[in-house]
Amino acid sequence: MIVDREPGHDALARAAELLRRAVRRRQPVAALTGAGISAESGVPTFRGSGGLWHGFRPEELATPAAFARDPQRVWEWYHWRRGLVLAAEPNPGHRALAVLEERLQDAFTLITQNVDGLHQRAGSRRVVELHGNLLEARCTRCGRVEPLAPEASGIPNCPACGAMQRPNVVWFGEPLPGAAWARARQAAATASVFLVIGTSAVVYPAAGLVEVAAAAGAGVIEINPEETPVSDLADSVLRQPAGEALPALLREAGIVPG
Ligand code: OAD
Repeated sequence: MIVDREPGHDALARAAELLRRAVRRRQPVAALTGAGISAESGVPTFRGSGGLWHGFRPEELATPAAFARDPQRVWEWYHWRRGLVLAAEPNPGHRALAVLEERLQDAFTLITQNVDGLHQRAGSRRVVELHGNLLEARCTRCGRVEPLAPEASGIPNCPACGAMQRPNVVWFGEPLPGAAWARARQAAATASVFLVIGTSAVVYPAAGLVEVAAAAGAGVIEINPEETPVSDLADSVLRQPAGEALPALLREAGIVPG
C-alpha cells in the first residue's frame, strides 16, 4: 500500500484518483467528519490549542452526572455554544461535501461527530449525526425531540409533558443513537473510499469506523493539518485545512471544474 504523508501534489493526485475511480464506478463513498471541518467557520474544536477542553472540563459539562448535578450550568454552556454556531456560516469544506453528495446521491454517506448543523446548512441532506445536535432539546421524561428557538435560555421544558429538557447530544458515558450508529457502521464497512476529515480520532466508537473501513479494503483519505492515530491507516494524507483540501480534491478528481 502506498502511503504518502507529505502534503503536496502526490498525495492530492493519489486521493483524487481514488475518488475519481469510485465516482466513475458509482461505488459507495463515505466521510467521517469532526470538529476540524468547522474550525474555519470559527467554531472551536475540542482538543489542540484553543480547543474547548482546554478551558472546560468534559466531566463538568458533558456527562449525565454533570447534568444531574447542575442542569443550569450545563444548559448555559450549550446555549453559549449554540450562539457561536448560529453566528457561524458553513465553509468551503462543508460545501464540497454537499457537492459530493449531490453528485453521488445515495452512494455517499456523510457521518459526522459534529453537533453544529453546519453540514445541513451547507446543503448536505443525508447526514448521520453520531453525537446528536445542539440545536435541539430532548425531554428527560418522554424523550420527545424539539428544535430550540434561537433565543432559548435557561432550562427549557418539554412542550408535550412539561418535564425538563436536556441538550439532544451524546455525552461521555452514553451510547450513540442506535440507528445512526448502524448506518455509520454499514457505510464504513461497504465504502470503497472513506474520507476522514478534521477529527483527532481519539473518541470511540466513532474513531473505530476508520478501522472498519480500512479493514474492509476502502481507500482511506485523511484530511487534517495534524497527524492522528489513524494516519497510518490512510492511503493518502492531505495535511491541509479541510476548507482548502476538499475543494482542491474535488477539482483534481474532476467532480467540479478546475
Ligand atoms: P477534536 O477537537 O478532538 O479534533 C479536531 C481535529 O481537527 C484535530 O485533529 C485538528 O488537527 C483538526 N483540525 C483543526 N483545524 C482543522 C481544519 N481547518 N481542517 C481540518 N482539520 C482540522 O474534535 P473531534 O475529533 O471532532 O464529543 O472530537 C471528537 C469528539 O470529542 C467530539 O464529537 C466531542 C468531543 O468531546 C462529544 O462531545 C461526545
